[in-house]
Amino acid sequence: KAAMDAGLLHPSSPSVILTQDDLKKIAAYKAVEYVESGMVLGLGTGSTAKHAVDRIGELLRQGKLKDIVGIPTSTKTHEQALSLGIPLSDLDAHPAIDLAIDGADEVDPFLNLVKGRGGSLLREKMVEGACKKFIVIVDESKLVNYLGGSGLAMPVEVIKFCWRFTAARLQKLFEEAGCVARLRTFGEKEKEEPYVTDNGNFIVDLYFERSIGDLKAASDAILQLAGVVEHGMFLDMATTVIVAGELGLTVKNK
Ligand code: 5RP
Repeated sequence: KAAMDAGLLHPSSPSVILTQDDLKKIAAYKAVEYVESGMVLGLGTGSTAKHAVDRIGELLRQGKLKDIVGIPTSTKTHEQALSLGIPLSDLDAHPAIDLAIDGADEVDPFLNLVKGRGGSLLREKMVEGACKKFIVIVDESKLVNYLGGSGLAMPVEVIKFCWRFTAARLQKLFEEAGCVARLRTFGEKEKEEPYVTDNGNFIVDLYFERSIGDLKAASDAILQLAGVVEHGMFLDMATTVIVAGELGLTVKNK
């Protein structure tokens, strides 16, 4: 049903194989069912959140939603929402947000998240920390037993000044978990450049061989390093996680 609602299946041919992007779209469409006219909405960033923003734009255009104010979590989402005619504002004007919808890179069994592989973790944490309800939308590949467990990056936004020093301290902090800290870059090998966030900072990605253990202690330790701006662990922030998988949708509530 969810796939049909998202326009991915037709009753006459209900056996199409769904791609990962289809699953993202299904989760996003489900989350947008929670949006009501008059809401102030946090608009997430990434390929999953993009589907939600598209859907909100579509419902506004069709007159099925009215008086929405969007608070984007990145310049990219800002541009997308503008192009869809979604009225936009910011946290200064709207410090209380009704609902935010965003993707995630990892979701653990307690609904703690890793976010920021798309680079927008700081604004996401500010916006999503200011909302009454935070719905996370993922395909099932994002579910992990513990944060860092996917073997992929856990991002930390750092200031540019002496980033190597900060990266070395981060790596040292998690020595026992077999941590490797790498500056995020983009571009071809010879023309590789540091990735720069919307806030003008760098990102150091942490990779772990083993669990980092107590997440709150890890969060506090990272934030105590002077060169760190924010990290991508979103602890106890999601109120609902919508997971789309081959076998259907699961809605997990805090
Ligand atoms: C961006 C994010 C994204 O929500 C996260 O990376 C998931 O992205 P995608 O939906 O493309 O898989 O945190 O900073």
